Amino acid sequence: MTNEYQDGVSEEMISALVHRFYDAIRDDTVLGPIFNERITEWDHHLQTMCDFWSSITLKTRRFQGRPMLKHQLIADRTRPDNFARWLDLFKQVVEDEIPSHLQVEFLEPAARIAQSLQMGMFQVPFDKKEVQNQLNLLEGKNEVA
Ligand code: HEM
Repeated sequence: MTNEYQDGVSEEMISALVHRFYDAIRDDTVLGPIFNERITEWDHHLQTMCDFWSSITLKTRRFQGRPMLKHQLIADRTRPDNFARWLDLFKQVVEDEIPSHLQVEFLEPAARIAQSLQMGMFQVPFDKKEVQNQLNLLEGKNEVA
Protein backbone atom coordinates (compact mmCIF):
# COMPACT_ATOMS: atom_id res chain seq x y z
CA MET A 1 0.00 0.00 0.00
CA THR A 2 1.31 3.43 -0.84
CA ASN A 3 1.55 6.34 1.52
CA GLU A 4 -0.76 8.20 -0.79
CA TYR A 5 -3.73 6.25 0.57
CA GLN A 6 -2.62 6.38 4.20
CA ASP A 7 -2.03 10.11 3.97
CA GLY A 8 -5.28 10.88 2.20
CA VAL A 9 -8.66 12.05 3.41
CA SER A 10 -10.52 9.48 5.55
CA GLU A 11 -14.19 9.01 6.49
CA GLU A 12 -13.18 9.58 10.14
CA MET A 13 -11.73 12.96 9.22
CA ILE A 14 -14.88 13.88 7.30
CA SER A 15 -17.15 12.88 10.16
CA ALA A 16 -15.11 14.87 12.72
CA LEU A 17 -15.09 17.91 10.43
CA VAL A 18 -18.83 17.77 9.70
CA HIS A 19 -19.79 17.37 13.35
CA ARG A 20 -17.48 20.13 14.56
CA PHE A 21 -18.55 22.47 11.76
CA TYR A 22 -22.29 22.12 12.38
CA ASP A 23 -21.75 22.48 16.15
CA ALA A 24 -20.11 25.81 15.32
CA ILE A 25 -22.90 26.71 12.87
CA ARG A 26 -25.59 26.03 15.45
CA ASP A 27 -23.79 28.28 17.94
CA ASP A 28 -23.35 31.08 15.40
CA THR A 29 -25.67 34.00 16.12
CA VAL A 30 -26.29 34.77 12.42
CA LEU A 31 -26.19 31.37 10.73
CA GLY A 32 -27.55 29.25 13.59
CA PRO A 33 -31.16 30.47 13.34
CA ILE A 34 -31.27 29.97 9.53
CA PHE A 35 -30.24 26.32 9.89
CA ASN A 36 -32.35 25.64 12.97
CA GLU A 37 -35.51 26.99 11.36
CA ARG A 38 -35.14 24.65 8.41
CA ILE A 39 -33.55 21.52 9.85
CA THR A 40 -35.63 19.42 12.20
CA GLU A 41 -33.63 16.20 11.98
CA TRP A 42 -30.04 17.14 12.65
CA ASP A 43 -28.72 13.56 12.63
CA HIS A 44 -30.08 13.17 9.14
CA HIS A 45 -28.51 16.44 7.98
CA LEU A 46 -25.14 15.48 9.45
CA GLN A 47 -25.26 12.12 7.67
CA THR A 48 -26.17 13.90 4.40
CA MET A 49 -23.22 16.25 4.83
CA CYS A 50 -20.81 13.36 5.55
CA ASP A 51 -22.07 11.72 2.33
CA PHE A 52 -21.61 15.01 0.47
CA TRP A 53 -17.99 15.48 1.57
CA SER A 54 -17.23 11.81 1.02
CA SER A 55 -18.53 12.10 -2.55
CA ILE A 56 -16.40 15.18 -3.16
CA THR A 57 -13.11 14.18 -1.55
CA LEU A 58 -13.22 10.38 -1.93
CA LYS A 59 -15.45 10.13 -5.04
CA THR A 60 -17.75 7.63 -3.28
CA ARG A 61 -20.91 8.98 -4.97
CA ARG A 62 -22.84 8.52 -1.76
CA PHE A 63 -24.47 11.96 -1.90
CA GLN A 64 -27.65 12.13 -3.93
CA GLY A 65 -29.16 15.45 -2.90
CA ARG A 66 -30.41 18.59 -4.61
CA PRO A 67 -28.33 21.37 -3.06
CA MET A 68 -29.31 24.15 -5.46
CA LEU A 69 -33.04 23.60 -5.06
CA LYS A 70 -32.75 23.23 -1.28
CA HIS A 71 -30.81 26.48 -0.98
CA GLN A 72 -33.17 28.33 -3.31
CA LEU A 73 -35.95 27.47 -0.87
CA ILE A 74 -34.16 29.41 1.89
CA ALA A 75 -33.07 32.33 -0.30
CA ASP A 76 -35.63 34.68 1.27
CA ARG A 77 -34.14 33.92 4.69
CA THR A 78 -30.49 34.25 3.59
CA ARG A 79 -28.27 37.15 2.52
CA PRO A 80 -25.35 37.01 0.09
CA ASP A 81 -22.88 37.97 2.84
CA ASN A 82 -23.93 34.91 4.88
CA PHE A 83 -21.76 32.91 2.49
CA ALA A 84 -18.58 34.73 3.52
CA ARG A 85 -19.43 33.96 7.14
CA TRP A 86 -20.13 30.30 6.30
CA LEU A 87 -16.78 30.05 4.49
CA ASP A 88 -14.86 31.74 7.35
CA LEU A 89 -16.30 29.34 9.88
CA PHE A 90 -15.67 26.38 7.60
CA LYS A 91 -12.04 27.47 7.11
CA GLN A 92 -11.48 27.75 10.87
CA VAL A 93 -12.80 24.22 11.48
CA VAL A 94 -10.91 22.76 8.49
CA GLU A 95 -7.70 24.30 9.87
CA ASP A 96 -8.36 22.69 13.26
CA GLU A 97 -9.45 19.27 12.04
CA ILE A 98 -7.69 18.50 8.75
CA PRO A 99 -3.95 17.97 8.16
CA SER A 100 -2.55 20.98 6.34
CA HIS A 101 -1.67 19.16 3.09
CA LEU A 102 -5.31 18.03 2.74
CA GLN A 103 -7.11 21.25 3.62
CA VAL A 104 -7.31 22.38 0.00
CA GLU A 105 -9.42 19.32 -0.84
CA PHE A 106 -12.17 20.82 1.32
CA LEU A 107 -11.56 24.53 0.96
CA GLU A 108 -11.40 24.70 -2.81
CA PRO A 109 -14.72 22.88 -3.47
CA ALA A 110 -16.39 24.81 -0.62
CA ALA A 111 -15.45 28.16 -2.17
CA ARG A 112 -16.48 27.02 -5.66
CA ILE A 113 -19.84 25.61 -4.54
CA ALA A 114 -20.55 28.63 -2.31
CA GLN A 115 -20.13 30.84 -5.36
CA SER A 116 -22.41 28.75 -7.52
CA LEU A 117 -25.10 28.50 -4.80
CA GLN A 118 -24.94 32.26 -4.36
CA MET A 119 -25.42 32.75 -8.10
CA GLY A 120 -28.40 30.40 -8.13
CA MET A 121 -29.97 31.95 -5.05
CA PHE A 122 -29.52 35.64 -5.71
CA GLN A 123 -28.66 36.31 -9.33
CA VAL A 124 -30.99 34.10 -11.27
CA PRO A 125 -34.69 34.89 -10.90
CA PHE A 126 -36.79 31.93 -9.80
CA ASP A 127 -40.22 31.20 -8.42
CA LYS A 128 -40.17 29.56 -4.98
CA LYS A 129 -43.29 27.46 -5.67
CA GLU A 130 -41.79 26.20 -8.93
CA VAL A 131 -38.59 25.24 -7.11
CA GLN A 132 -40.58 23.37 -4.44
CA ASN A 133 -42.52 21.51 -7.17
CA GLN A 134 -39.33 20.60 -8.98
CA LEU A 135 -37.88 19.25 -5.74
CA ASN A 136 -41.07 17.30 -4.93
CA LEU A 137 -41.05 15.78 -8.40
CA LEU A 138 -37.42 14.68 -8.04
CA GLU A 139 -38.13 13.26 -4.59
CA GLY A 140 -41.31 11.48 -5.76
CA LYS A 141 -43.67 13.67 -3.69
CA ASN A 142 -46.87 15.45 -4.77
CA GLU A 143 -46.89 18.91 -6.34
CA VAL A 144 -47.88 21.86 -4.17
CA ALA A 145 -50.87 23.84 -5.42
C1 HEM B 1 -25.13 31.01 3.65
C2 HEM B 1 -24.62 29.79 3.59
C3 HEM B 1 -25.45 28.54 3.74
C4 HEM B 1 -26.64 28.35 4.38
C5 HEM B 1 -27.46 29.36 5.20
C6 HEM B 1 -27.00 26.96 4.18
C7 HEM B 1 -28.13 26.35 4.72
C8 HEM B 1 -28.50 25.06 4.48
C9 HEM B 1 -29.71 24.44 5.02
C10 HEM B 1 -30.73 25.12 5.92
C11 HEM B 1 -29.75 23.17 4.54
C12 HEM B 1 -30.85 22.12 4.78
C13 HEM B 1 -31.84 22.19 3.63
C14 HEM B 1 -32.94 21.15 3.69
O1 HEM B 1 -32.68 20.01 4.11
O2 HEM B 1 -34.05 21.47 3.28
C15 HEM B 1 -28.57 22.98 3.72
C16 HEM B 1 -28.28 21.81 3.06
C17 HEM B 1 -27.12 21.59 2.37
N1 HEM B 1 -26.08 22.48 2.23
FE1 HEM B 1 -26.07 24.40 2.80
N2 HEM B 1 -26.04 26.35 3.42
C18 HEM B 1 -25.08 27.27 3.13
C19 HEM B 1 -23.93 27.07 2.40
C20 HEM B 1 -23.55 25.86 1.87
C21 HEM B 1 -22.31 25.63 1.15
C22 HEM B 1 -21.25 26.69 0.85
C23 HEM B 1 -22.31 24.31 0.79
C24 HEM B 1 -21.28 23.52 0.03
C25 HEM B 1 -20.01 23.72 0.11
C26 HEM B 1 -23.54 23.72 1.27
C27 HEM B 1 -23.91 22.42 1.08
C28 HEM B 1 -25.11 21.88 1.46
C29 HEM B 1 -25.55 20.55 1.09
C30 HEM B 1 -24.78 19.53 0.25
C31 HEM B 1 -26.83 20.36 1.66
C32 HEM B 1 -27.73 19.13 1.53
C33 HEM B 1 -28.63 19.34 0.31
C34 HEM B 1 -29.60 18.21 0.06
O3 HEM B 1 -30.00 17.52 1.01
O4 HEM B 1 -29.96 18.04 -1.11
N3 HEM B 1 -24.26 24.68 1.92
N4 HEM B 1 -27.84 24.13 3.71
